[in-house]
Amino acid sequence: MRSATIAPMSFNPDPTVRAAALRAALQHHAHLYYTLDAPTLPDAEYDKLFQELQALESAHPELLTADSPTQRVIGQVLPGFTSVRHAVAMLSIRTETDTEPSGALSFDGRVRRELELGPDAPPVEYAAELKFDGLAINLRYEAGVLVRAATRGDGESGEDVTQNIRTIGQIPLRLQGVTAAVIEVRGEVYMRRDDFEALNERQRARLQKTFVNPRNAAAGAVRQLDPAIAAQRPLSFFAYGLGEVVGWLLPDTHSGLLDALAAMGVPVCADRAVVAGAAGLVAFHQAMGAKRDSLPFDIDGVVYKVNSLELQRRLGFVSREPRWAVAHKYPAQEQLTRLNAIDIQVGRTGKLTPVAKLEPVFVGGTTVSNATLHNLFELRRKGVRVGDTVIVRRAGDVIPEVVGRVVEPRAAYVPNFRMPRQCPACGSAVLREQGGLAHCCSGGLFCPAQRKQAILHFAGRRALDIEGLGDKLVDQLVDAGVITSLPGLYKMGLAKWAALDRMAGKSAQNIVDALEKSKQTTLARFLFGLGIRQVGEATAKELARHFGTLDALMTASFEQLLEVSDVGPIVARSIQTFFAQAHNREVLEQLRAAGITWAEGAGAQAQLGPRPLLGKTLVLTGSLPTLSRDAAKDLIEAAGGKVSGSVSKKTHFVVAGEEAGSKLDKARELGLVVLDEAGLLALLNEAQPEPPVLSS
Ligand code: IVH
Repeated sequence: MRSATIAPMSFNPDPTVRAAALRAALQHHAHLYYTLDAPTLPDAEYDKLFQELQALESAHPELLTADSPTQRVIGQVLPGFTSVRHAVAMLSIRTETDTEPSGALSFDGRVRRELELGPDAPPVEYAAELKFDGLAINLRYEAGVLVRAATRGDGESGEDVTQNIRTIGQIPLRLQGVTAAVIEVRGEVYMRRDDFEALNERQRARLQKTFVNPRNAAAGAVRQLDPAIAAQRPLSFFAYGLGEVVGWLLPDTHSGLLDALAAMGVPVCADRAVVAGAAGLVAFHQAMGAKRDSLPFDIDGVVYKVNSLELQRRLGFVSREPRWAVAHKYPAQEQLTRLNAIDIQVGRTGKLTPVAKLEPVFVGGTTVSNATLHNLFELRRKGVRVGDTVIVRRAGDVIPEVVGRVVEPRAAYVPNFRMPRQCPACGSAVLREQGGLAHCCSGGLFCPAQRKQAILHFAGRRALDIEGLGDKLVDQLVDAGVITSLPGLYKMGLAKWAALDRMAGKSAQNIVDALEKSKQTTLARFLFGLGIRQVGEATAKELARHFGTLDALMTASFEQLLEVSDVGPIVARSIQTFFAQAHNREVLEQLRAAGITWAEGAGAQAQLGPRPLLGKTLVLTGSLPTLSRDAAKDLIEAAGGKVSGSVSKKTHFVVAGEEAGSKLDKARELGLVVLDEAGLLALLNEAQPEPPVLSS
């Protein structure tokens, strides 16, 4: 790790010195954070230094420099981009579309011929690297400071995208230890797959257009005229070469050059190698091919470059392509194929997903015949209909998806796809959720697609708490058809349990005992365990408290449901839909017949007592001396409070125990009330009268 830092802590009141120290520290920590992904300073500390620098710069505008970290997101919406002429043309490289090893052999053969190397001459040394799938950018540094960033354009001139490129945290605004008059760094701006997926998820949630692939998303962000929007698009960068250089003595090799760039703080991909001859190239192509799916970003091939810069000069260029480099492709991650049908898949959680049935096509290294269409809204926006030629993308571990269609006239009228009103797996009513985006099956307990999930949820710790009934056992039960619905659990005798895999000896008895124990529960746990859509643990507790008995809840009108705090029209409708279905009522009856009971009625409500924490949100952090996390949560909720996982301005109290971490820091920062266990217990015992109106 470099040492050029932490001067700001040793305070120098001279604003010029102080500003320079702050800039250096912020640059250092931004590099650790963005490029090396190894931050050593808490975000809040970084923000403090940043704000101090901002304040200094606005008090002393003469101190403002182009490389100041405060200058990343600046500027206004542009009317258009200005064209800039490249000092050195940005050329492209020859592409070897033969994805087999022969592609590497023919490149090595050409290089050896051009260099007039005989069969006995030693193998040529190559620098092998990845071919990133983004867009090429030229970063011009003068005296070490980023002064301009331009796209490739036609190779001779590109567009000035400096203000957008500045928003990319990974790109240094100043090169470390560089005074050279000019260094132009060339590389690829790209978007990581996880950033891309998250961006598309956000776009979907806002009902906005999704991007076809990370490359288009990155290109769109770089060419975004509003830098504030560009700043919200998460971009990354890898350097792979140089443009104009003045006043810097180049290393002898391409690999040495990339090492030098990395030392200046420029992101350089670690997946690169110096290899010998054709055999080395083939091995690299294969190794990266095997790794391709697990890389966090898209590549469409690898690039081989003759490592010696001297040999590169000797080889020169032919028709604007260097003879010393080649891109060796992999099978494409996008392909065209025919959409044969649209099916509906019911997920474990009941979500209905339209799935494209495709004419099988080889994409991203495998044959794909199914691809997701995400949801009805997205399907409609993409305008795909059965019979269309569609674009299928499969990259990495992400499930294949239909990203669009080829717009061509349709031979015949094809009706628009509609979501079914009944679940194709079980016939239960389909509900719309998540602001109308998702269609979900309401037959949780009954639906075969959701059977495993329903049983696991019912058996969960915060529901019926059936110890020992986990994933593997439920898989066996359902896959072997031993049980088809929840009540079946209670009908199995010891012998049946013992006949299952890994259930010999005490295990079967333990499950039987756990099931027996689970029969004595609470209405709230039972309701939560039913997995009614939209009814989480807190809502289940409110419902149990409000109605007191299952029958009262089952017969409640829509208006009566709305009287419960936390229950709005969507939740109310979901509850009514659940109880309206005969098969659900049947399951409830069978569960009660199996002996599941809870204290009902006035008694159950009376137990709840006063609710001193009504309307309050608490956060638990660290371990408390006597209460477990669950016990504390139960107490808080019984007192009407909510437990949240993260600290914000809306948090009323933070309860901190041993080894409390960043949540406690955040609480202090926000000036929140922090309690220990004794403080929490005191709060719970404050028997205040319940406020007449619920605050939400
Ligand atoms: S070298 C003169 N190296 O692929 C050689 N290019 O035509 C200049 N690319 O648009 C290019 N990864 O943006 C080089 N490791 C890599 C690359 C790479 C991606 C892109 C580049 C250009 C195209 C090559």
